[in-house]
Amino acid sequence: MNILICGGAGYIGSHMVKMLAGQGHQVVVFDNLSTGHKEAVAGGVELVMGDLLRPGDLAALFSRHHFDAVMHFSAKSLVGESVMNPALYYANNVIGTINLLDAMRNHGVSRFIFSSSASIFGNPLQERINESHPQAPINPYGKTKLMVEHILRDYHAAYGLRSVSLRYFNAAGADPGGEIGESHQPETHLLPNILYSLLTGQKELKVFGREYNTPDGTCVRDYIHINDLCDAHLLALSFLEKNDGAHGFNLGNGNGFSVLEMIHSAEQVTGRKIAFTSAPPRSGDPATLVADSTLAVRQLVWQPKYTKIDDIIATAWHWHQNQRF
Ligand SMILES: NC(=O)c1ccc[n+]([C@@H]2O[C@H](COP(=O)([O-])OP(=O)(O)OC[C@H]3O[C@@H](n4cnc5c(N)ncnc54)[C@H](O)[C@@H]3O)[C@@H](O)[C@H]2O)c1
Repeated sequence: MNILICGGAGYIGSHMVKMLAGQGHQVVVFDNLSTGHKEAVAGGVELVMGDLLRPGDLAALFSRHHFDAVMHFSAKSLVGESVMNPALYYANNVIGTINLLDAMRNHGVSRFIFSSSASIFGNPLQERINESHPQAPINPYGKTKLMVEHILRDYHAAYGLRSVSLRYFNAAGADPGGEIGESHQPETHLLPNILYSLLTGQKELKVFGREYNTPDGTCVRDYIHINDLCDAHLLALSFLEKNDGAHGFNLGNGNGFSVLEMIHSAEQVTGRKIAFTSAPPRSGDPATLVADSTLAVRQLVWQPKYTKIDDIIATAWHWHQNQRF
């Protein structure tokens, strides 16, 4: 298939590009490199520099290429920044997505996979979050993701656009081949920060909040390996061949790990002691966020392969050790 990967120079998108190219698909990446890295794009894959906020960039892209489907990973995705600067988030994540969908419409492309997020649900009302959980995001970032999901339903009803929104919980780990991995600037994710603190000793690792209502008092999250997420995208594409509609699936491992458990596992994997300090809880951080992915397992026939947290951490460690910081 000919597939457009928006945001294919970013963390998750670059892993998707590598997987698709490895399977013989024709892939084009569109990215403004605001948070992505051009060296993360697999060799031989065309990288088109452009911005979703410039419809002319999209018109030029779609008139030069024919696409069977689009996977949309581009977004601003820092919760704190979205609270401080919501205009940036509503513009980039919502208007940017509308521009993309309209370019697709103008060129007759009708298959769309969207990177949504657990943040559309807000504070969890049950231990494991399934698709029926109320959708009540508590920050502008989560609201942008939910708005796009609503737009996708309307675009299906009016224009017949088929879509799957995949709500990732915590993406983690790296390409098992060690070629690409997770590198955000600034980095707010726990695992890269653990490994970065170990490798450089420069940035103190902070544990935000020790008195949550969890077994050890620290936040519990559901970590899903990046390649398991990418597998779900491939399955979602096949699903759209047979199923009309605008669909949403939650993607996680269904197991929660606390911050202290993650640190402990990283110590096991790396064989090193990890120093950390305690810091006040961050506002808007729920105690526990764990997915119920039963629907994706059933309907997409998806089965995560990385079920052990140590294995996920080992792939990240493999990549991180070869980086220059
Ligand atoms: N990383 C996670 O754990 C996680 C969890 C839930 C959802 N998500 C979502 O998954 C997607 C990918 O996340 P990631 O961690 O890979 O992020 P990332 O920042 O590494 O990648 C996003 C990519 O999109 C590009 N981009 C952003 N705005 C653009 C624009 N206007 N025009 C063109 N390109 C643009 C960036 O340059 C970057 O390469 C995002 O939509 C994010 O909200 C991520």
